[in-house]
Amino acid sequence: MKNFEFKNPTKVIFGKGQISKIAAEIPKEAKVLLLYGGGSIKKNGIYEQVIAALDGVDFEEFGGIPANPEYEVLMEALAVIKAKKIDYLLAVGGGSVIDGVKFLSAAAYYKGDEPWDLLAKRIPTKKGMPFATVLTLPATGSEMNSGAVITRRETKEKLTMGGPGLFPIFSILDPSVVSSVPQRQIANGLADAFTHVLEQYMTFPVGALLQDRFSESIMQTLIEVAPAIIKNPADYEAAASFMWSCTMALNGLIQKGVPTDWAIHMMGHELTALYGIDHARTLAILTASHYTYNLETKKEKLAQYAERVWGVTEGTTEEKAKAGIHKTTEFFHSIGIKTKLSDYTEESEGTAAKVADRLASRGMTKLGEHGTLAPADVEKIVAMSY
Ligand code: NZQ
Ligand code: ZN
Repeated sequence: MKNFEFKNPTKVIFGKGQISKIAAEIPKEAKVLLLYGGGSIKKNGIYEQVIAALDGVDFEEFGGIPANPEYEVLMEALAVIKAKKIDYLLAVGGGSVIDGVKFLSAAAYYKGDEPWDLLAKRIPTKKGMPFATVLTLPATGSEMNSGAVITRRETKEKLTMGGPGLFPIFSILDPSVVSSVPQRQIANGLADAFTHVLEQYMTFPVGALLQDRFSESIMQTLIEVAPAIIKNPADYEAAASFMWSCTMALNGLIQKGVPTDWAIHMMGHELTALYGIDHARTLAILTASHYTYNLETKKEKLAQYAERVWGVTEGTTEEKAKAGIHKTTEFFHSIGIKTKLSDYTEESEGTAAKVADRLASRGMTKLGEHGTLAPADVEKIVAMSY
């Protein structure tokens, strides 16, 4: 096991009815900006619950943060923060709204002229404006981590940012919110969280026995609840296990002491930026190709995964590894997610080279847990996904 330090300061308030606790968690003198997305919260009762819970709190509102949060829109919110002398942010939404608020938390305290530099120059945020979240969609884990992904429409860029100053102060996780989430987003949440675990697990063995078991248990739980939550998003017990699994998949715990990959996400962000494909679906498109291409370096963990998560007992290490890849593709299909790039866009010609070039232009020329995947490898992996 590798050396590590672990600190996650986010307070999680989990369960039915917990949205009512917001005001008790926010400092009395705070001037709050409530931020949300395209309006789903106004149709499913979450907005009313939040407004009721903000009784006595001094707050303003900013709605309209789009999925794959856009820099242009966030800059409008930043102007509101400055004009209204806001000093506390409250995100009510899924990964997009929460990530947008993380950007704002960083940008509000940023001394430079161009907040985009936080992304373009990968400037880590040590201290941001305090913020909290009410999660409405289990998927990204953003409610308990310090990373964000922001899009710039005019340049079709989708870049990551983060830093120790970008953990939410508290996050309210009420599984009841899942009842209004559309099928497509439920499937996305399952696939995104599942792939988050894979990115931190599917590398090579380092004797991190407990981390492996944590990862396997999260994947097993997602597989177990998937049919129930897809059939009925109002199934509270299934929603609770789904929501907590998504949070645990990316709150930093399972990556401690182990190598991590993240190449699928880096390539996937380019597919979203280029074609607008949902984040989770880009991951499902690339997973089998990435693992097949890197079978030699990943086969031990792939075989362990096949055995422990899918119960594959027959065959050599390599055969089990391949069975593990196949089971993963079947899992995506079972939740209604197609796994070929051609299922999402007709524009396959040149896509692989484009993704490789774009990553290379940002200096991302050494992907994967060994840092050995060069642009030529990226091009081959994406081409295998057509
Ligand atoms: O915008 P509204 O109207 O609220 O509708 C949203 C949106 O259209 C809707 N929705 C959310 N909660 C709902 C609901 N509809 C009905 N009932 C509810 N309770 O769902 C749609 C998708 O929302 P979004 O926030 O975009 O989804 P998700 O949570 O999957 O977030 C995706 C974003 O997170 C980034 C992705 O790249 C993408 O930009 N990621 C962030 C990560 C992080 N910060 O750690 C890690 C991930 O790997 C990922 O990259
Ligand atoms: Zn993801």
